[in-house]
Amino acid sequence: MVKLVCFQDKVMAVFTSLSPNTERDDLWLAWQMLFKPWQWQKGQGVLELENYFKNWLPVSRAFAFSSGRACLYAILQAIGVTSGDEVLLQAYTCVVVPNPIIWLGAKPVFVDCQDDFTMSVEDLEKKITAQSKAIIIQHTFGCPSAIEAIMALAKRHNLLVIEDCAHSLGGQYQGQALGAFGDISFFSFGRDKIISSVFGGIVATNNLALAEKIKQWQNNLTYSSYGWILRQIAHPLVLFFVKKTYYALSLGKFLVTLIKQLGLISRAVSLAERQGGKPVFISRKMSNALAVLALHQLKKAARFNAHRQKIAALYDRELVGLPGVRLPQFRGDNVYLRYTICLDKAKFLISQAKKQGIELGCWYDWPVAPRDTNLDKVFYTWGSCPTAEKLAKRSVNLPTNIQTSEKDAMKVVQFIKQNIIKQNI
Ligand SMILES: Cc1ncc(COP(=O)(O)O)c(C=O)c1O
Repeated sequence: MVKLVCFQDKVMAVFTSLSPNTERDDLWLAWQMLFKPWQWQKGQGVLELENYFKNWLPVSRAFAFSSGRACLYAILQAIGVTSGDEVLLQAYTCVVVPNPIIWLGAKPVFVDCQDDFTMSVEDLEKKITAQSKAIIIQHTFGCPSAIEAIMALAKRHNLLVIEDCAHSLGGQYQGQALGAFGDISFFSFGRDKIISSVFGGIVATNNLALAEKIKQWQNNLTYSSYGWILRQIAHPLVLFFVKKTYYALSLGKFLVTLIKQLGLISRAVSLAERQGGKPVFISRKMSNALAVLALHQLKKAARFNAHRQKIAALYDRELVGLPGVRLPQFRGDNVYLRYTICLDKAKFLISQAKKQGIELGCWYDWPVAPRDTNLDKVFYTWGSCPTAEKLAKRSVNLPTNIQTSEKDAMKVVQFIKQNIIKQNI
């Protein structure tokens, strides 16, 4: 009996990751799209997505690409980043951010972050040199960066500012949308982002000269292959069934690994990228099929974010004052892609949670994630960003996505309280 209850509890798992934005209507749309291969590459979807996004942000020009990293690559070439240049970005990031800088022969220069997971202005100032060309500011987990201070510094040093809004679609700062502050910005529709089409992203700008260059670059790209698009359309459907059986007979983890090995679903970050490499599929036009899925999700973004904020408020209320746990202290109108707490023994907490059917997240558990990234290849020097390194050891992401109900969030809270207080971890 006890075994059965435990089993049922695990079947009702809570997921921070694994395509958490997919709802029934998204599954239905993906299912229908599977049978319309003539619409996979070309169609009106991309233009509709770009036009909708432009008005939604709002911004004067928007261009869709096959991923957020493809957007950043397009931006860097448009602003003329080339060999010998330096581009400043924060540590406590994903390897796909420094990679496009490296592909253009330039050097990523890592700036430390502060306790809110965004770039430290103090360290930024120290790392600007005569070779610096641009600054990428990352609104990590939806938290606006120190925008005014960074913009002022950039102006003083004549540097362009690129906003990385991969985590912050729908976020605002002082009433203005994130993504409309810098010279140019990009958003991601990756599988674990604010909205998802598995792969996809969009560049946004009010700078017409840069927009022209981005447009040209976009025109010259080719479409992703039919096989690649098929895998992305099938991704939410496959994951839906994987999640339903995730804890049954402990098959879930095995199944995810197996279907990745078989190439049935794609990896978020390929093995080559972890070594600073550039896989051929990375820089492509956005395919029509994925644009249709992304637009459908974009229309739900406000509801998703309101839900995230409600769940974050619950965590704020329930977890305040827990010994040894630092809750996120964010500025501005944060959309809480993930609610990230910091504590010693973060890894242990994540592994204990799995046993209870709670899949917590580990973004970012390495100064340039994922953990098996070759730091030398991406120009990261160990010790150069101590706060980022400390946060990487101590971060645990709690789920806020639309699939996480208040009851699920309370399950997470109870688990953390029990483990922190009883086991004193
Ligand atoms: C902070 C950050 N910026 C940019 C990206 C790139 O987005 P995409 O996965 O769509 O290429 C990611 C992806 O994980 C990210 O975490």
